Amino acid sequence: MKRYEALVQEIEGSIRKGVLRSGDRLPSVRSTGANRGFSASTVFQAYYLLEARGFIRARERSGYFVNSLNRNEPLPLETPSQPSSNPISVDICAQVFAILESTKSRDVVPFGSAFPSPLLFPLARLGRSMAQSAKSLDPWSTVDHLTPGNPDLRRQIALRYMADGMHVHMDEIVITNGALEALNLCLMAVTRPGDSVIVECPAFYGALQALELRGLKAIQVPTCPKEGLDLLNLEQTIELHKPAACWLMPNFQNPLGSTMSEAKKQALVEILAKHNVPLIEDDVYSELYFGDKRPLPAKAYDTTGLVMHCSSFSKCLAPGYRIGWAAPGRYVRQVTEAKLITTLATSAPGQRGLAAYLELGGYDKHLRKLRQTLSEQMAVFSQAVGHYFPAGTRATRPQGGYFLWVELPTGVDAMKVHAQALAENISVAPGPIFSPTHSFKNCLRLNFGHTWNDRSERALATLGKIASAC
Ligand SMILES: Cc1ncc(COP(=O)(O)O)c(C=O)c1O
Repeated sequence: MKRYEALVQEIEGSIRKGVLRSGDRLPSVRSTGANRGFSASTVFQAYYLLEARGFIRARERSGYFVNSLNRNEPLPLETPSQPSSNPISVDICAQVFAILESTKSRDVVPFGSAFPSPLLFPLARLGRSMAQSAKSLDPWSTVDHLTPGNPDLRRQIALRYMADGMHVHMDEIVITNGALEALNLCLMAVTRPGDSVIVECPAFYGALQALELRGLKAIQVPTCPKEGLDLLNLEQTIELHKPAACWLMPNFQNPLGSTMSEAKKQALVEILAKHNVPLIEDDVYSELYFGDKRPLPAKAYDTTGLVMHCSSFSKCLAPGYRIGWAAPGRYVRQVTEAKLITTLATSAPGQRGLAAYLELGGYDKHLRKLRQTLSEQMAVFSQAVGHYFPAGTRATRPQGGYFLWVELPTGVDAMKVHAQALAENISVAPGPIFSPTHSFKNCLRLNFGHTWNDRSERALATLGKIASAC
């Protein structure tokens, strides 16, 4: 065990046993170092880790203090949803826009945000790759590399598939403006207005908005916060309603955080192949796993070309660069044409800059750090929810991503919580925006992808009070 780890263990033990109590000041870094013969950096490393785990808190110019949190997890949320399986028209856009608009200000504590903190990304290094590659950009590449996109970037993406044991040729990859464009292009490729599309319940509001925009109906399938989609129900629904496609997130589903087991993903792909239903696979969070290895996408089990895999760099490397891709299997021509018709191509310098960053190496190192940070923030955040939220609150335990799905006691109105929280400059994503029937009225999606500090703890405490009173 390293010195800083031993120190962490000792202080954590003292806090757990109550020797060190909430509000107690820890000895200064200098005196701890001097007493034990440790360097300041060893003590700092220990204090940082204790802080990341939620045991202590730094106060500016005052030192480190034991946190006031009870270390109680909220009750687990594990029961599957039970939607009606009828195709329904979607009318969600206005509500989603109103809520997202209200969360944009930097003064607002961003629990409702869809993005992790932009400070978690290697933006300076990316910027250098961008600048260098923009300077040396081959003028012809701006015309040669229209859709499907920059070959160097497509090769880098193909290499990442290969590292996961998947064979996705670079010619099967279409670069897009973020994953959202990839998903929409795939939807365009396989549906016509009036068709029905299977979604999870609850579902990512972006999927519901896309269905609404194209005049498609949503069919919801029960989804479990732990294991994802109910496959038995899925197959019955397919037989009954003959959907044109499924739009699903097998890994770290938004908002539930659920991940299907590898066996279940394989079974999903087999069911869809049997019924010839294409899968639009939204896989934007799978790099953000907290376990030992990245969960494979359903695409890894595809033998018929029906899986249209969509992802991006927006959540794990380059927010705001708007670079994503689709690997749409047998629909690559249709998706390429849809891209050419709608936005022609994705910014050439952006693609080349990102390719240059990936070629340099260092992406995996950044990802390791990002995953570690997010998993530590999840632990603190989840305990704070257990501490501050009303009795009976349940929450998911995601193994990746940066969202917690919280079910407040029955009768609490999430839309009211949203309105009152916003008046206190706190945003939340209320449950009803994740459902075409505006269900999940007592649920919230909370973002733990921002640094946990005094401000976020105060905000979560306020949110807990609001939820208790609503
Ligand atoms: C589940 C999910 N899919 C897709 C997207 C869109 O990704 P991108 O920003 O790469 O377009 C988001 C963004 O919030 C998301 O949460």
